[in-house]
Amino acid sequence: MSFFDGIPVAPPIEVFHKNALYLNETAPVKVNLTIGAYRTEEGQPWVLPVVHETEVEIANDTTLNHEYLPVLGHEGFRKAATELVLGENSPAIKEGRSFGVQCLSGTGALRAGAEFLASVCNMKTAYVSNPTWGNHKLVFKKAGFTAVNDYTFWDYDNKRVHIEKLLADLEAAPEKSVIILHGCAHNPTGMDPTQDQWKSICEVIKRKNLFTFFDIAYQGFASGNPDADAWAIRYFVDQGMEMVVSQSFAKNFGLYNERVGNLTVVVNNPAVIAGFQSQMSLVIRANWSNPPAHGARIVHKVLTTPARREQWNQAIQSMSSRIKEMRAALLNKLTELQTPGTWGHITQQIGMFSYTGLTAAQVDHLIAEHKVFLLSDGRINICGLNTKNVDYVAKAIDETVRAVKSNI
Ligand code: LMR
Repeated sequence: MSFFDGIPVAPPIEVFHKNALYLNETAPVKVNLTIGAYRTEEGQPWVLPVVHETEVEIANDTTLNHEYLPVLGHEGFRKAATELVLGENSPAIKEGRSFGVQCLSGTGALRAGAEFLASVCNMKTAYVSNPTWGNHKLVFKKAGFTAVNDYTFWDYDNKRVHIEKLLADLEAAPEKSVIILHGCAHNPTGMDPTQDQWKSICEVIKRKNLFTFFDIAYQGFASGNPDADAWAIRYFVDQGMEMVVSQSFAKNFGLYNERVGNLTVVVNNPAVIAGFQSQMSLVIRANWSNPPAHGARIVHKVLTTPARREQWNQAIQSMSSRIKEMRAALLNKLTELQTPGTWGHITQQIGMFSYTGLTAAQVDHLIAEHKVFLLSDGRINICGLNTKNVDYVAKAIDETVRAVKSNI
């Protein structure tokens, strides 16, 4: 007899499970297109040179210590992260209507933001895009939201943002619902609304008195330009919207396991900030008490030292360029093979992922027959491709769509 008798075994977390299946695979030829982490042309993880140099400098800085950070985090980091996403000349910054809260990467920022909205503001209905990142619903449910609904995002037939249904779903959402929007490089589809579509989305959210929760995990990584990738968020700020924005520095700094993130908060009245920050301090205190310093120090130094920031700009440009090259290479090869179906979306999509349109049965076939590992919804991490394996992957997709029929 145990206190824990009868606990059902939960399903595995797909992205980590598939990654483990790849790592345990003994076949001589295998390809990992699962987890969203950057890989070099050699298929290896990449420590950005500017991150490495900054880490060495931090390690040698004897003025630093390992004392606790404040509950809301490293002050310089919070400011730099907020400026990165809102832009240094943001009206919200100039008018003292914004601030950052250091969190445990993007997930921690989502969790702290969600828990704050549920427990302090009594907002308990959220809407996530369909499809969305595999963790969004879980985070909001565990944080106290009683309803986590979908809004339509993807037009599966035409492989585009289904803007008409998206807007209709937002129109139907009850007042004060929290709308989770991907700031750029939508995960998993890799397709963002156009600027005109963002304007329509903002208009509905404002008119219906819904609350905006942006999640931006790929700033700079998507287009190579951090300002361009923050366009939608800055547009919402310009329209006078209040919001919270979860930011991750996992992908754009390659700091995946350092858990560096920020929750940027924009309010329309600076008088509410004292109450907000004091209640948020309690949310953080009850979760991780105070955040880790290492990653925050790195991001702070890089963003606030002009020469380092330039090195970082070059690194994100080189990562995003390699991804674009791999998109083009995959599309070219599929075109050359005359693979059944349409594949132009591979180069229209941006960021790390392509939502290929492959069915779950085709994914199973790709894994079983070709040892090409990807998620069951057909999402591939383009970073897993390189000049040595892209032809192999294209041929594997070609064989698969001929062997396992679907309507793509
Ligand atoms: C992904 O989507 O693959 C990454 O963001 C990793 C994760 O935590 O899911």
